[in-house]
Amino acid sequence: MTSTSGTTPHLIEVDGLSASYGRVAALKPVDLRVEEGEFVTILGPNGAGKTTLLRAISRLIACNGQVKFKGQDISKLNTHQLAKLGIIMVQEGRGLFGEMSVYENLLLGAYGVGNQRDEVERRFTQVFTLFPRLRERSSQAASSMSGGEQQMLAVGRALMAGPKLLMLDEPSLGLAPKVAAGILDTLGELNRNGLGILLVEQKAPLALKLARRVYVLSSGSVRAELPAQEIKSHHDLAKFYFH
Ligand SMILES: Nc1ncnc2c1ncn2[C@@H]1O[C@H](COP(=O)(O)OP(=O)(O)OP(=O)(O)O)[C@@H](O)[C@H]1O
Ligand SMILES: [Mg+2]
Repeated sequence: MTSTSGTTPHLIEVDGLSASYGRVAALKPVDLRVEEGEFVTILGPNGAGKTTLLRAISRLIACNGQVKFKGQDISKLNTHQLAKLGIIMVQEGRGLFGEMSVYENLLLGAYGVGNQRDEVERRFTQVFTLFPRLRERSSQAASSMSGGEQQMLAVGRALMAGPKLLMLDEPSLGLAPKVAAGILDTLGELNRNGLGILLVEQKAPLALKLARRVYVLSSGSVRAELPAQEIKSHHDLAKFYFH
């Protein structure tokens, strides 16, 4: 779809999105965009509203404001309808079904595909190619996988849904540095293959390596939006964090 001006619309465009928990305004009106095939990272201190922002975009919480996907207003859609469009979030804490096998968890990710066996198989092949460990452990209960393996499974399950925009909330949380780097490398590979990614990540050096643009969120507001290469050090970031 193209906009009336003939230019390619943003993959996702967030305009004045806000959300509250009771009287706590966790997200002040926020503007944000991700272009087709772009890798964007959100940085910010604890309690900044990063998780709230991703939850608001995916309508896991009530919010105000406008969100457009490829130029189409999706503000009125629910989480399930957004998933059908390809807007998929990997939540912090992974949200896996622990008693179910790796295979079953992956299959659940593809529920939107319906009866198209070939498409489901194609997606399994893609996920198992990216994460061979998941193939090896496909009959193992999700809860008995290591932290890193569970994160692979969470990303794998999201890929089974056929995302156009993949949003991830701190996928490296609690993982050994090498394992975290492996997960993020995979995200980089997916992005090089054209997938739009919106990543919340506290490990700035890792995230900045991959991202093209960065938003710094603090106290529920965007404090800065800048190309990743402009952020040279934690020291530079600090001035946004403590604005
Ligand atoms: N369910 C909730 N009920 C009440 N307040 C909440 C709830 N969830 C989050 N908050 C508050 O909203 C604000 C933003 O929280 P959020 O989880 O979005 O921050 P975050 O940037 O993801 O932080 P972290 O880096 O620690 O994950 C915080 O002040 C938090 O205490
Ligand atoms: Mg969070």
